[in-house]
Amino acid sequence: MVGRFSRMVVAMTVRMPRWFVGWVSRRYVAGPKLDDAVKVMKRLSKEGACFTIDVLGEDITSMEEATFFLEEYKRVITAISENNFDANLSIKPTAFGLLLDSEIGMDNIEALVSMANEHQMFVRLDMEDHRVTDDTIQVMLDMHEKGLTNVGVVLQARLFRTIEDIQSIAQKLGKDADYRICKGIYLEPEEISHTDRQPIIKATNDCVDAMLDAGAYVGIASHDHPVINHTLEALSKRKMGPNIPDPRPNAGKPRPQKGPGYEFQMLLGVRGPLRRKLCSKGHRTRVYIPYGEKWYEYSIRRLKENPTIGTQVAKAFLMPWTNRP
Ligand code: FDA
Repeated sequence: MVGRFSRMVVAMTVRMPRWFVGWVSRRYVAGPKLDDAVKVMKRLSKEGACFTIDVLGEDITSMEEATFFLEEYKRVITAISENNFDANLSIKPTAFGLLLDSEIGMDNIEALVSMANEHQMFVRLDMEDHRVTDDTIQVMLDMHEKGLTNVGVVLQARLFRTIEDIQSIAQKLGKDADYRICKGIYLEPEEISHTDRQPIIKATNDCVDAMLDAGAYVGIASHDHPVINHTLEALSKRKMGPNIPDPRPNAGKPRPQKGPGYEFQMLLGVRGPLRRKLCSKGHRTRVYIPYGEKWYEYSIRRLKENPTIGTQVAKAFLMPWTNRP
């Protein structure tokens, strides 16, 4: 349940001047330009992190905007390659025009995934709300069918359907299945999703188990101790861990530029000490780095979509020891 405090923080923040929102979001967004993301990658590379880059923006209203995203992500691929960063892309299929013109949207996504493939780079399809879950999964399956296996999807544990999606995708893709599992940021209707904290944590842990058992590559995207601790136990039960070749018989060959079957993923600016601790123990840790001119719209939309973020942001500023960058 969303508390009164969270709603109050959101109501206050959306009325604040742009500079204030910019000051708050500075911690979570690299900046407006690709150069800002490059600077953050240079800095965090020294900590042993790898990255995924998100150009901010979704829900576009014209195909010109879709072209902008295609061109900007191409620049990202070039910058990653030139700097030899250990990084991949996170894209929102709707930003490529999928809802406006599905044929051109698919062509745009294919053009990007092909270019990434030429650079041995992976592309993650971020998951938006439940209205586009089927389409997003289908985009990924279509790319695999075209031989572009450098693409994987995000699944949201709060949705009831996810546990079945894990099985059906794994059946279709076998050892090429590569998931990011997260709780899901969108507050979905209770008919189709868990809405309370404990059931969401349990569902996330069940999904981690199901993905590991399916032999898939698993990116665990969470800053929450019960999820991370469960994952560490689940890995140890399966004799998986840092520097151990993936022992699962259904996992296929080692995956170039990936961890031994799994990695931890966290957002820029959130729970840095926890990420560094996992990294120091040898776990592969990936930082999600958003950048772009649309930082203001992004920050406000995220707050409105899920007001619990308001509490987390307030906590990060009022009690910084709970969430150092
Ligand atoms: P929880 O929300 O309980 O957070 C645990 C603690 O982490 C909090 O108490 C707080 O200290 C800190 N924290 C978490 N989020 C914070 C924030 N934004 N600001 C400040 N502190 C924060 N969702 C989705 O629907 N589709 C997607 O494609 C993705 N992609 C994605 C990628 C990556 C790398 C991550 C880490 C997350 C996502 N998410 C996502 C978001 C995800 O679904 C979820 O909403 C958040 O990760 C928060 O859930 P936690 O498991 O971290 O737990």
